[in-house]
Amino acid sequence: MSASEILAPGVLTPPPVLTTERLVVRPLEAPDLEPVHRLYLDIGWDVKALSADENRERRRSWLEWTLGCYREFPRLQQPVYGERAIARRSDGAFVGLVGLVPSFGPFAQLPSLGARRHARFSPEAGLFWAVSPAHQGQGLATEAAGAFLAHIVATLNLARVVATTEHDNLPSMAVMRQLGMRLETNPYPEIGPDWFQVVGIFEPEGDETGPIYAPARDRTRDHR
Ligand SMILES: CC(C)(COP(=O)(O)OP(=O)(O)OC[C@H]1O[C@@H](n2cnc3c(N)ncnc32)[C@H](O)[C@@H]1OP(=O)(O)O)[C@@H](O)C(=O)NCCC(=O)NCCS
Repeated sequence: MSASEILAPGVLTPPPVLTTERLVVRPLEAPDLEPVHRLYLDIGWDVKALSADENRERRRSWLEWTLGCYREFPRLQQPVYGERAIARRSDGAFVGLVGLVPSFGPFAQLPSLGARRHARFSPEAGLFWAVSPAHQGQGLATEAAGAFLAHIVATLNLARVVATTEHDNLPSMAVMRQLGMRLETNPYPEIGPDWFQVVGIFEPEGDETGPIYAPARDRTRDHR
């Protein structure tokens, strides 16, 4: 794969639709607001201090921002962060979310990345996933995240992708293992941060694709 082939699908354009045996992973759209709001309620990630309407407004604001990411990151020639919808291929039913998220943490505290106490934070490419309880336990998170992981590794030429979760989130850890991630725990939990508990690390073998960013200056870019 040449550098220009790598650039095109992953960096310069909005997210493509990925198809698996049972699913499509597609860009979110405005009508996804209600199913996403429902997902957050069903997995208990709504903000308890807020009313139902306020929680829906949070999701609406988040969805608007996500659609803005699809538009603005390509203009910066940067990878499109943000979640995508997981939908059932047979009838389009909304199943959940998977996405590329910024993950800033003390990754050099981890055993294989340095085991350094009080390591400075570094930015990593993170994976996120959530599946509606009605659809859990069927391998759908693994199927969607597997396709998405393969896509971003191939198109963005990533050296490493991480996922983080809490010690008690056994399903999420199982998904990480199914994706071929190695799991490591923060050896310095007293340092934290609180959310930095279990980290899945995916590092593709080999170094075959070369640099992803074309060196030529592009005057249409918003920033240099
Ligand atoms: C994590 C999550 C996305 C998994 O979705 P899913 O579609 O059920 O995932 P899959 O079916 O692909 O895989 C689930 C795995 O968890 C395992 N699992 C489920 N419940 C478990 C439990 N209580 N203990 C141990 N393993 C468990 C399943 O056996 C399966 O592993 P296997 O394939 O090795 O058998 C879903 O539970 C979820 O949305 N949770 C809430 C959001 C969340 O925590 N997201 C992660 C953010 S860090």
